[in-house]
Order: sequence, then C-alpha cells, then structure tokens
Amino acid sequence: MDGNGRWATRRGLPRVAGHREGVIAARAIVRAADTLGLRYLTLYAFSTENWSRPADEVSTLMSLLERSIHSELPELMARNARLRVLGRPHGVPADVRRGIDHVVHETRHNTGLTVLMAFNYGGRDELIDAFRALARQVQTGELKPDEISEKAISEALYTADVPDPDLLIRTSGEMRISNFLLWQIAYTELWITPTLWPDFGAADLYRAVAEFQGRTRRFGKV
Ligand code: FPP
Repeated sequence: MDGNGRWATRRGLPRVAGHREGVIAARAIVRAADTLGLRYLTLYAFSTENWSRPADEVSTLMSLLERSIHSELPELMARNARLRVLGRPHGVPADVRRGIDHVVHETRHNTGLTVLMAFNYGGRDELIDAFRALARQVQTGELKPDEISEKAISEALYTADVPDPDLLIRTSGEMRISNFLLWQIAYTELWITPTLWPDFGAADLYRAVAEFQGRTRRFGKV
C-alpha cells in the first residue's frame, strides 16, 4: 500500500494525513475484494523496517491501525469476513496487539473473505522463524532433516494453511518486492501501478484482477 506519504506531500499535508486516507482506501478494497468473491486479501500494513520512521509517524500509524481495525469489526462480522495477522507479535505495543487480537478472536469462525494483515512483518524474519521451528522439530526427533520439504516449510510459515497468492499488486510504481511474502510469491503474478495507494479504488482492483484472468500461468512449464 505504497504512496501514502507522497499523496500527502503533494497536497502540502503531513504524511500522516496520507495514512488516514490510506485507511479509507483499504476499507474500500476489502469491500471490493469481498464483492468479487476473493477468498484471501493480504494487506501489507507495517513492516519490521517501518519502525525506523520518525517516532511520531510510527505512533500515529500504530493508533490509526488499531482504531481502524477496531471500528471495522461490525462490518467484518456482517460480511462473514475473518481477520488474521502475519508478523511477529513481539515488539508491538501491548494495547495495539490486544486491540487487534480481539478482532482476530471475534472473527475466527467466519467463513467468507480472509483478510490477512501483515503487521510487524518481514519476509526474511518469517523465514527465520520457520527455519527455527523446523530446527526445533529436528532437535526433538519429530522430523528428520530429509523430511524438510516445500510442504513442511510452507506449513511452518505465518501463512500455514493459506494458499500462495495468485496476484501481487504494488502501488506507486515501486518495482521491488520489499521483503514481502518471499517464499509464497515464487509463482505469483505481479501488477504494478503508478497510482498512489490513497487513490487506488475498487475499479483499480477490478482492472488488475481482469488482467490477471487473461494471463497464462506456466509455473515453469511450457
Ligand atoms: C506506505 O506509504 C504505507 C504504509 C507504511 C502503511 C500504512 C498503511 C495504511 C495506513 C493503510 C491502512 C491499512 C489497514 C490494514 C487498515 P508510505 O508511507 O511508504 O508512502 P511513500 O512511499 O509515499 O512515502
């Protein structure tokens, strides 16, 4: 969801005004994803690298994310949508974590769209955590080194039991992956748009999905 800061700066507004607008865009995209019948939508809300932004931007982002997740609970329930978090719980302020965990808990039995929020997330951290978990299983004798397979690694990730993404959308024209779902996106289709995240709406999502539907996916075959 790149481009919040630029969106605000271009209007002579503080960067946090862009994040507020970004929340409104995220809400519209959750609705559009549900309308389309998507099963999973992952939003990269806060990376482990984002902690090094100015302290006031970080604290505003934290309270903004917590408040908006909290206020979305009634709509998530009405849409039978479920919230899950990808990322390390450690390091997130306790009150923010509690607020998000509450929504995760309340929506856990919902069977419609799953919204995965990457929060305090880093792709390499996720791999480190998975490899440590596998190493512990080897240490206790539950797993043999030769049994470490693609499936075993996938199941040790934060996204265990979630299929790999079909489509990755990146806004604001950035041509990089930025440590996002590194293992899972091996065969994901990419869609990069110059549109800044606050300007990204339902019509943009529909366009991306429609183009995706016209692509031929070969998964390395001919
Ligand atoms: C990137 O813009 C965005 C973020 C660091 C994350 C914040 C995202 C939101 C507030 C959207 C709301 C999400 C949810 C799940 C409620 P940037 O600051 O990197 O912008 P720039 O690239 O223009 O500097």
